[in-house]
Amino acid sequence: MKIGILTGGGDCPGLNAVIRAVAKSLILQCDAEVIGFEEGFLGLIENKYRKLEYIDVSGILPAGGTILGTHNKANPFSYFKADGDDVSERVKANYDELGLDGLVVIGGDGTMTIAHRLGRVGIRSVGVPKTIDNDLMHTERTFGFDTAVSIATDAVDRLQTTGQSHGRVMILETMGRYAGWIALHAGMAGGADVILIPEIPFDIEEVARVCRRRDEHQNFTIIVVGEGAKPEGGEQVVRETIEESPDPVRLGGIGNFLKEKLEPMVDSEIRTTVLGHIQRGGTPTAFDRNLATNFGIYAASLVAADRFGEMVALQNGRMSTVELKKVADKTRYVPVDSLMVRAAAAVGTSLGRSDLDIELAQPGDDLSI
Ligand code: F6P
Repeated sequence: MKIGILTGGGDCPGLNAVIRAVAKSLILQCDAEVIGFEEGFLGLIENKYRKLEYIDVSGILPAGGTILGTHNKANPFSYFKADGDDVSERVKANYDELGLDGLVVIGGDGTMTIAHRLGRVGIRSVGVPKTIDNDLMHTERTFGFDTAVSIATDAVDRLQTTGQSHGRVMILETMGRYAGWIALHAGMAGGADVILIPEIPFDIEEVARVCRRRDEHQNFTIIVVGEGAKPEGGEQVVRETIEESPDPVRLGGIGNFLKEKLEPMVDSEIRTTVLGHIQRGGTPTAFDRNLATNFGIYAASLVAADRFGEMVALQNGRMSTVELKKVADKTRYVPVDSLMVRAAAAVGTSLGRSDLDIELAQPGDDLSI
């Protein structure tokens, strides 16, 4: 058996843990030959690859990034160096020439969409869900999310002490694209006073009211805002657009937008911190290492069973699978009636609106985090 492996899209803590788990289990259990493609789908398009031996994937478990490199623009259906050409047939020719039996593709929704489309030209894939954003459909966790949340929580903790010392409003902008998972989980873990997520467009008057109310007693306010958050009736703030990318819009800037809007409405000084790629770098948490390892082992077992066209997933705390086509081109948003949103409401954390009618969780309710 000969299997290719690649990491697509933005990097994320835990990628190496998956590469290690897939390669080790395929080598040990199936005596397979494992080929690592470099820089995501670019490696498959341009035939850039290397054989991965057992020794090559030893010692990489705690390392951040990806030993294979990744690429967030290379798309076989719109090859950026050739004015958007569809080079999927060329990719298929490379795949056949190498004698591959299938691929393990580790990535987010863009990668799963490409893997699904490649299935139509005869390239078989098993997907592994990666992203700090935790926004892939049909899996309750993606690896990388826990690490990003711990880093963002640490930032909230640090902003608390400096914010308190100066009596300031401290705004922390997190990543997460169009979903508020990182902001919500880090905001709750850090005890933020206001959490703004894309799923609940905020009312700036309400945010200002919370800051003024806190000024009367506590004298400082912590606001965690997901990069995709937007005011009611307003738009998301776009940092840049990268036309060649399968996902061209890069969000960012809502933290400073919020600061500008709030400044005339509150007396305290306001400071904004944009956490940015710090959330994506460095070593994964123990939870992400183990999730990534289990995802990798499960992906290898699907390959061994000759099952392709599926993505491994965590559902109700169990390893499971979902068809790639059900994940492609979709985003998993924070449900506004989820446990964490209700927890925020229960402890008096503002979600940026005074008119939200959030039912508090009751014993016996079927709620997931
Ligand atoms: O999807 C992961 C992510 O880090 C998002 O949270 C963020 O919006 C985006 O990637 C940033 O992309 P780039 O690394 O291209 O700036």
